[in-house]
Amino acid sequence: MKNHKKDFPIFQNNPDLIYLDSAATSQKPRVVLDAINEYYTSYNANIKRGIYPIAEKATAKVEEVRKKVAQFINAKSKDEIIFVRNATEAINLVAYSLASTSASWRISRGDTIATTIMEHHSNFVPWQQLAIQKNADFLVLDIDQNFKFQISNFKYQIKNAKILAITHVSNVLGTINPLKKMINDLRTVNADLIILVDAAQSVPHMSVDVQDLDCDFLVFSGHKMMAATGIGVLYGKKTLLSKMQPFLYGGEMIREVTIQNTSFAKLPHKFEAGTPDIAGIVSLGAAIEYLNSTGIENVLKHEIMLIKYALEQLKNMQELTIYGSTNARKRGGVISFNLKGIHPHDVAQILGEMEICIRAGHHCAMPLHNRLGIPASARISFYIYNEEQDIDKFVNGLQKVQKMFR
Ligand SMILES: Cc1ncc(COP(=O)(O)O)c(C=O)c1O
Repeated sequence: MKNHKKDFPIFQNNPDLIYLDSAATSQKPRVVLDAINEYYTSYNANIKRGIYPIAEKATAKVEEVRKKVAQFINAKSKDEIIFVRNATEAINLVAYSLASTSASWRISRGDTIATTIMEHHSNFVPWQQLAIQKNADFLVLDIDQNFKFQISNFKYQIKNAKILAITHVSNVLGTINPLKKMINDLRTVNADLIILVDAAQSVPHMSVDVQDLDCDFLVFSGHKMMAATGIGVLYGKKTLLSKMQPFLYGGEMIREVTIQNTSFAKLPHKFEAGTPDIAGIVSLGAAIEYLNSTGIENVLKHEIMLIKYALEQLKNMQELTIYGSTNARKRGGVISFNLKGIHPHDVAQILGEMEICIRAGHHCAMPLHNRLGIPASARISFYIYNEEQDIDKFVNGLQKVQKMFR
C-alpha cells in the first residue's frame, strides 16, 4: 500500500509523532481539511431554505454526501441515512424513539432489552437507562472464554427481547462479531427482534453492507474515519424510521406547524432538527472519497498486516497480557494489554513523553473490564497511516517502561 502518512499534515507538523490511538479518533488527511476550508471560504450558507446559489450549492452538497454514505454502507435509499453528531447520539435517538413510539415495538414494563458485555458505554448506558425507566428486563449477553457469544445460550431470553444492541467490533478486545450469521440465527429465534449495530469501530476499517447484514439500525461516527468531529450517522430501515417519533423538534424537520399541532417532514429530514454540522457533513464526504480511492479492502488488509506484525513483536515480551483473540484475521486493529505491576496510566504517560500516543483506562467499557477482572488496560489502535516502524518504536518504548519499573 502507498505511504499514506504524507497525506496527513499532522505528521509533517510533528515528524516524531507515533499515533496509535485511532480507535479514539483518527487523524485527518489534507483532502478532508481542504474540503472543510473550501466550504467555509467559497459556499458557506445554511441549507434547505436558501434560494441563492451558494445556499443551493451547500444543500446539494449535503444531499450528495448523504448519497455517498448510503452507497458506502449499501443502504437501499439515501432517505435511510440520518446525520447526527456521533454514534452516541444515533443510539440515543433510537432508544428515545423506542421509549416514546406508539408502534408495536414500544418498550413497556416487562419487555426485554438486550445488549452485550462487550459494549462501549454509548451502546450500554442508553439501554440500561431505558430499561430502568420502563421497568423492562435488561439482558446482557456474556462472552465465552474465546471472547465470543454463543447465541444458543441465550435463545430463551432472546425469544422475548424487543431489541438487541450489539457492537460489530469491540473497541477493547478487537473482536469482530460474525454479525451476518448471528443476525440470521437471531431472526430464526425471534423474527420481531429489532437489531441495532454499533459500527463505530467497523465502518472506518472494513466493508460493511447493511442489506447483507440485515440489521435494522447501524450507527457510526465520522471522526473515527478521518472526517471532522461532530458528524455521525444513523442508518435505519425505512419501514422503521418512517414510524418512529422524532428525537428533536424544531426548524427544518416539519411539514406544517399550526398553533394546535405539527406534522413532520419526510425522511430523513424528520430526524434532523436545526442547522446540522454542514462542514462536518462535507468532511465526511471527503473522507469517504479518500477511503474509496484507497479501497476499504486495502485498509483492512493493511490493518491485518499491522496487527499480525504487532502480535509477533509483542509475543516474547515478558509479563505482558493481551486481551482478545491472537488470530489477526479475527480481530480489528485494536490491541489492549497490561504489563504486570505497572498501571496502564503510567505506561501511557511515559510513552506519551516519547511522543508515542496510546490510550489507557477503561476505554468507556467498564462492564467489560469488570468481566475481565481488571480495572483498566492500555490500548494501541491502528489506521491507514500507521507503519511497521510505529510498532517498532512502540515496542521499544514499552521495553523502556518495563526497565524503569524493574
Ligand atoms: C465501539 C464504540 N461505540 C461507540 C463509540 C462512541 O463514539 P462517539 O464518542 O463518537 O459517539 C465508540 C468510541 O470510542 C466506540 O469505540
